[in-house]
Amino acid sequence: METKQYLKILKDEMHSVVFATTDKYGLPVTRVIDIMLIDDNSLYFITAKGKNFYSQLIDNKFVALSGMTDGKDSMSKKAISIRGSVECIGKNKLDEVFKENPYMAEIYPQKESRIVLEVFRFYEGEGEFFNLSAKPIIRESFYLGKYVQKNKQGLYYITNKCVGCKRCVSKCPQNCIDISCIPFKIKQKNCLNCGNCKEVCYFSAIKKR
Ligand SMILES: Cc1cc2nc3c(=O)[nH]c(=O)nc-3n(C[C@H](O)[C@H](O)[C@H](O)COP(=O)(O)O)c2cc1C
Repeated sequence: METKQYLKILKDEMHSVVFATTDKYGLPVTRVIDIMLIDDNSLYFITAKGKNFYSQLIDNKFVALSGMTDGKDSMSKKAISIRGSVECIGKNKLDEVFKENPYMAEIYPQKESRIVLEVFRFYEGEGEFFNLSAKPIIRESFYLGKYVQKNKQGLYYITNKCVGCKRCVSKCPQNCIDISCIPFKIKQKNCLNCGNCKEVCYFSAIKKR
């Protein structure tokens, strides 16, 4: 899927997501924030200048977020996490935010009450889509802006030391070892990143990036 499609899931199916920042002591802080707008490569959210969240975003532009779809249990949910950089774009797009999200007028009814609000753009980063409702599970990476695609090849990989003993195959919970040739290959799209394969390999043929 294109980055925009993941961002659309975040805005339309998740909407209220958890953002993590760090406070002035470098300690983690989380809170719920709404994804108001998206474009091809970025997402937009708002906050008020008086909030600690605002100060933390100004002090440190690196943030992380996680969102999840509704679902009756874990096996029917999808999650998206992104980490990367944000920038404050002031009042730009604020009118659009209120137009696209009419419920915001209930929280900030008078125009005058909106003077404290500013818009932030999440413009660069790496994301992960995790779908537990698919069988086998689906895990996909995506990228925002100019972020260098570091993990495109997956967290675990099998080296030439593989002799094809299949011990990893028997221990893989998602059955995602491709045994069609030696060295075997991990089907990254379905891999949980649990590390079972590396743990059980007698030949130390599996490495973690
Ligand atoms: C469903 C929901 C959505 C929220 N969306 C936002 C938002 O988009 N922007 C915002 O500033 N606060 C939002 N809040 C409120 C923040 O979570 C709240 O202000 C937070 O506790 C303050 O964080 P801070 O103490 O880190 O500044 C939302 C709260 C809820 C319950």
